[in-house]
Amino acid sequence: MTVDFAALYSSHLVELKRRADEALQRGGFDHLVIPSGTQHWQVFDDRDYPYAVNPQFKHWLPLTKLPYSWLVYTPGKKPQAIYYQPRDYWHVVPAAPSGWWVEHFDIHVIRKPEDAIALLPKDASRCAIVGEAPSTLGAFAPNNPEAVVNYLEYQRSYKTPYEVALMREAQKLAIKGHRAAEAAFRGGAGEFAIHMAYCAAVGQDANELPYGNIIALNEHGAVLHYTDLGQHAPTPLRSFLIDAGASFHGYAADITRTYAYDAASDFQQLIDAVDKAQTAMGQQVRDGVDYKQLHLDAALTLMGILRDFDVITCDAQSAVESGVSFAFFPHGVGHQLGLQVHDVAGFAASDRGGRIERPATAPALRLTRVLEPGMVVTIEPGLYFIDMLLEDAKAKGLGNQINWKRVDEFRPFGGIRIEDNVLCTTGEAENLTRPVFLSQAGAAA
Ligand code: GLY
Ligand code: MN
Repeated sequence: MTVDFAALYSSHLVELKRRADEALQRGGFDHLVIPSGTQHWQVFDDRDYPYAVNPQFKHWLPLTKLPYSWLVYTPGKKPQAIYYQPRDYWHVVPAAPSGWWVEHFDIHVIRKPEDAIALLPKDASRCAIVGEAPSTLGAFAPNNPEAVVNYLEYQRSYKTPYEVALMREAQKLAIKGHRAAEAAFRGGAGEFAIHMAYCAAVGQDANELPYGNIIALNEHGAVLHYTDLGQHAPTPLRSFLIDAGASFHGYAADITRTYAYDAASDFQQLIDAVDKAQTAMGQQVRDGVDYKQLHLDAALTLMGILRDFDVITCDAQSAVESGVSFAFFPHGVGHQLGLQVHDVAGFAASDRGGRIERPATAPALRLTRVLEPGMVVTIEPGLYFIDMLLEDAKAKGLGNQINWKRVDEFRPFGGIRIEDNVLCTTGEAENLTRPVFLSQAGAAA
């Protein structure tokens, strides 16, 4: 089935204009001005950091490599794209504007960043300028009015059909990489080689991926964001945790899988138990469900698994109440996903501001809102054997709730995380990840 991105984009833009109209009205401004952002330079050096586009800019335009450019929207008028295309023989310059967005904009190509000033609205004080401070150009300093930003960020939770279509493409790319990475692991590759196999299959390198790949063999799986890449495969190879995504026109996938080298191991059985529980958690993504509760339920389920595997000596409820659960499941069950891997407004009480706090037992949870149709969230339960947290639990007098012999058996495997991306609809949850894994089965590199 071919996706008509042009038609979807056209409707997306109608919705963004509606949101911008409301945001400007709330903030009392006449124009929405969004700089794409600038390059940043390393201190005492002439090397630039990888350019990262302003997410507010890429919400409007599928352009992620266009620094020093601007979007200007004035209600009732065709939006303006100020498009920076320098004369430069050192670097590849952005190609001439093209694609499904072009017909919807008045486009002004500029050769120097300061050429934008003459094209921006006359009176900077009438502009809501949403961006980072270094984008300041003359009188046009980002002011990020709270009323405007709160509204735009809150609304970003509700993905348009265009955004969901792009996120589906990001899934396909990431899963190609996951398939290639699993094959590399099974073939005995080390972390660095697995990472390279992943990037080659996706066709993206570290600068394009939505976050740094987490490629962890054996004990390394116990480091939640393990981003060192060992050159050599450890012996024996026991386990592989991969948390890696892909981008498509600025939209992210964020997917995690865990594999045991030995399919007959207890660790494989533990993976299977988490995998089954994770699938069921994903089905809980429904209109009206409080994500905080989803997290608390996940913690209880995971402790039930640890009890079944004889890793804890108490029942699941007691493990959650005592806090011993935190030693094994020390992160949130997930977060919003979209233009940013940890998408914004996860704690927003409303589109006018305010904050919904985390439950006391979930200090790392990144989403406390009630789910609504259009939201895309990750569901990523995990169980780990982390020395530091196990010692903390012991120091708190919780050592007798842990079966240390069993912990010692699992420690060399690091940990387990399984993560899918799930769309909340008006009906059943739509898991964006699992069907793609199935459709790509056997297609590994
Ligand atoms: N994929 C990394 C994270 O969600 O924190
Ligand atoms: Mn994640």
